[in-house]
Amino acid sequence: MASIKPTPDLRPARLNALGEFAASIAHEVKQPLAAITLNARAGLQWLDQHPPRVEEARAALRMVLEASTAATAMVRSLHGMACQAAPERSVFVVNDMVRDVLQLLRAELRLQCITVTEDYGPDYQLNADRVQLMQVIMNLILNAIEALRDIHDRPRTLSLHTGLDGDALCIRVADNGAGIPPALAERIFDPLFSTKPGGTGMGLAICRSIAQAHGGGLRSDNARPHGAAFHLSFKEYTLWTPSRS
Ligand SMILES: Nc1ncnc2c1ncn2[C@@H]1O[C@H](COP(=O)(O)OP(=O)(O)OP(=O)(O)O)[C@@H](O)[C@H]1O
Ligand SMILES: [Mg+2]
Repeated sequence: MASIKPTPDLRPARLNALGEFAASIAHEVKQPLAAITLNARAGLQWLDQHPPRVEEARAALRMVLEASTAATAMVRSLHGMACQAAPERSVFVVNDMVRDVLQLLRAELRLQCITVTEDYGPDYQLNADRVQLMQVIMNLILNAIEALRDIHDRPRTLSLHTGLDGDALCIRVADNGAGIPPALAERIFDPLFSTKPGGTGMGLAICRSIAQAHGGGLRSDNARPHGAAFHLSFKEYTLWTPSRS
């Protein structure tokens, strides 16, 4: 007698994947959306003044435009990842990319009284998707800022380091917060895993999949004497040399 094979029910897996994708989008656009709302509200308030403060309103609108452009780029690159599209590669100097992300977060770091230590090695270049790698560094720094929020008994520090680790190019983002409990060391990279009340738990999952899509990796360990350190590494890189033309 011919046996009828039950069709596997793919819905839970699909729903889960969809849930993760939706959570990724929510995670990446949360910051720019908050910036859009704040600046749009500020713009209206400037225009409601007597006489209207047009220059300030224009500056607020410019910020709205910048934040929405950033959100669009992020959604596009996440969509690319979901469709398994190849990263949009270009050649850039890693140290400059890290400095650019830091610049975007300077105001927040100052507000949270976090001292930043920068230790850049030689100007190595990657052939990679710059927007995606900026997302990774931004997520790691935002996690560090969140981890440092509970620290009140010592100066809060964030340290950024680039350089070679064996034969790999490594970008290290470390803080002196409470660190990661050993039992959670691998779970923190699971999609939707979060210990924060409002967290989506997608940040590190997105970071690791971006690193892997570039043939690289992301791991964490604890920093000394306090805190967490994240190591983003790439096997393929070149050294930037000034052009002779
Ligand atoms: N720098 C850090 N120090 C200590 N724990 C960390 C650090 N970075 C991440 N974690 C832990 O890893 C978990 C997962 O981080 P992930 O970025 O994936 O999500 P999240 O930060 O909780 O949520 P979201 O990114 O949506 O705000 C965090 O909830 C936290 O427990
Ligand atoms: Mg996070």
